[in-house]
Amino acid sequence: MATLFTRWRRGHDAPVAEGPSPADIADRRPAFLDTLWLDDETSPRDSELPRFSALASDDVDLDGDEPALSRSRLALRDALGASQPVISRDRFAGRHDALTQLIAAIEEQRLHVVIYGERGIGKTSLVHVFADTAREARYLVLYGSCGTDGRFDEIFRAFAAKIPMLYHRSVLPTTTAVEQALHFDSMLPPGPFGPREASDLFADVVGTRVILILDEYDRIADANFRRDVAELIKNLSDRAARVQLILTGVASNLDELIGFAPSIRRNIVGLPMRPLKVDEVGEILRLGEAAAGLRFTDDAVAMIATVASGSPYLVRLLGHRAAMVALDARRTRVDPAHVTAAVERVLTEWNATLPRRVQALLSGDEAREQWALLVAAAEAGTYSDGWFVAADVAAELPGGAPPAAIEAELRRLAGPHNLIETDERLDEPRFRYRFPGVASLLLMSASLARLRR
Ligand SMILES: Nc1ncnc2c1ncn2[C@@H]1O[C@H](COP(=O)(O)OP(=O)(O)O)[C@@H](O)[C@H]1O
Ligand SMILES: [Mg+2]
Repeated sequence: MATLFTRWRRGHDAPVAEGPSPADIADRRPAFLDTLWLDDETSPRDSELPRFSALASDDVDLDGDEPALSRSRLALRDALGASQPVISRDRFAGRHDALTQLIAAIEEQRLHVVIYGERGIGKTSLVHVFADTAREARYLVLYGSCGTDGRFDEIFRAFAAKIPMLYHRSVLPTTTAVEQALHFDSMLPPGPFGPREASDLFADVVGTRVILILDEYDRIADANFRRDVAELIKNLSDRAARVQLILTGVASNLDELIGFAPSIRRNIVGLPMRPLKVDEVGEILRLGEAAAGLRFTDDAVAMIATVASGSPYLVRLLGHRAAMVALDARRTRVDPAHVTAAVERVLTEWNATLPRRVQALLSGDEAREQWALLVAAAEAGTYSDGWFVAADVAAELPGGAPPAAIEAELRRLAGPHNLIETDERLDEPRFRYRFPGVASLLLMSASLARLRR
């Protein structure tokens, strides 16, 4: 069935009579993906049931068949596992410019910092490694992760409880040991309090500098909370307090994260996290090489960089998987074939986590027809936690379809298909894939298709 959107495209960029143009076909989902997206009966039954490859104690099983292989697998998981942020400098790759900018904002400009970018781009890892670096310079760095129901007073009371009274203006060397053992929260009112009380308290820090990190700030749903934090930043800046805030969150721009707050614009530095460059991707993979005694060929590195679109999360995921494929084949050279196999496995797994209804939809004819639009929508959503407006999709689509036609098509996918959710609260309706996995799946299959072409 030719939907409105394909009809529009045909009408504009292709000869009307003879079916799809070559460009249309290139935009379609390639056939090889169909084999990935079909039913699960892909893995033939092994003669033996699978076993764990290492012991839970992390000791290598020396009685097993191949202790060296088990050792490499374990080392790989530690070096390239993608489920945890990096917290130590020796596991942190690239990002020298981001770290330099962050240090300069804190140390030279004495400003507050907002770090923003898509999920998995490395915000949490950056602040952890920064925290380590700042502690070396004797800063008192406190880390807090925000939750949806976080309250201003709870979060800042928790921070205050970790700042020793030793650093309070009122505490003299002659103060009793008991008083010195207290923390800043002892100076706060017992009930709820706001930005004024918090800044009064933090303005009394002497003898050190305090950095408060609020990670995952985008999860805070309460607009009042954000207003209070903006007010706190303003007060701390006006009083030249020795306390600086670092906020991180998923967002495409500053306003989206901190709310529209012109009064604090000159008190903050916005630090957008960009995709990794190829040499930084290489640097992450080197960590795996060193740990497991493997080597990624240059082509394999370039391929991972492309498919991962510069996301450190995906670089690790694919690097880890590709190396495992190579190890399983008893190879120490990880080449593009291993990477392809890893991408296919990851796509198949992601697909399997989606509801059957969505799997069926994605493998159906209509999705094949609409592939270009579906991919463009996924691309449009990468910067704002999946959300996009029709004009964003239009910008990603090479054909240059008008936003109105795209919006109609998105509404159709939102309606009976329920593939997309809508948010009509703003002037311009926003859309997002109902399951984030769909966007990841589309993006990665699109890069794989590009590579194959
Ligand atoms: N500079 C880096 N070097 C190596 N791995 C990184 C780096 N930055 C991020 N990663 C990895 O990428 C994944 C996502 O990073 P994370 O810091 O959690 O991203 P975010 O907080 O932006 O969602 C993690 O597995 C982490 O180990
Ligand atoms: Mg994070």
